[in-house]
Amino acid sequence: MKMTLAPSILAADFKVLGEQMKLCAESGAGYLHFDVMDGMFVPNISFGIPVLESVKGADGMIMDVHLMIEDPIRYVDKFCEAGADIVNVHYEACADLQAVLDRIHGCGKKAGITVKPNTPVEVLLPYLDQAELFLIMSVEPGLGGQAFIPSSLDKIRRLKGLLEERGLKADLEVDGGIYHNNVRAVLDAGANVIVSGSSVFHGDIAENVFGFMEIFKEYE
Ligand code: DX5
Ligand code: ZN
Repeated sequence: MKMTLAPSILAADFKVLGEQMKLCAESGAGYLHFDVMDGMFVPNISFGIPVLESVKGADGMIMDVHLMIEDPIRYVDKFCEAGADIVNVHYEACADLQAVLDRIHGCGKKAGITVKPNTPVEVLLPYLDQAELFLIMSVEPGLGGQAFIPSSLDKIRRLKGLLEERGLKADLEVDGGIYHNNVRAVLDAGANVIVSGSSVFHGDIAENVFGFMEIFKEYE
């Protein structure tokens, strides 16, 4: 199976964002992970629509938008127009998740459903064939640089099992606290899209991305 790296620009240096994104793409990252925070669903505020408009499509990367916002249906159309290829919404943030997924698909984009560390993956059962991607948070959303929560591995395994039992091929993405030294455990558990902020943007970006690519080869 193809493994994909999704660098989270939350950890980038915004003075030189374009250069850093280019390094990510040239070194093999396929997705660009775009963390949107509203100060409500999570305590922090990050960036939003104008920034996505400006970076979309850069270097051929797929725009993987992670909406950490309350009631995301309000902004689905705007993020789709601004260049999102995948729109991830939080299970915990949606009053009517099905309506949100339908809205994303209505815009012609891929839908992702995200769960926080304390939300069991079994809540996803009614939606397993309704999304192209599932995103398991391995840290509490809202902040980069936190430590990976070990119980996430069991959630990845359980969700992978539920998808496989049904013959579903959705992407399984994991976000938070992933480094070269623990990514194998995440891949072994069944993930195929790896989000990484600190471990890509701190230090030598090309070398960091390349390190992930080398590990991914063991799985392809
Ligand atoms: C947390 C974000 C993550 C985070 C990943 O709310 O969704 O994307 O920035 O960063 P690291 O890899 O530093 O944990
Ligand atoms: Zn994220």
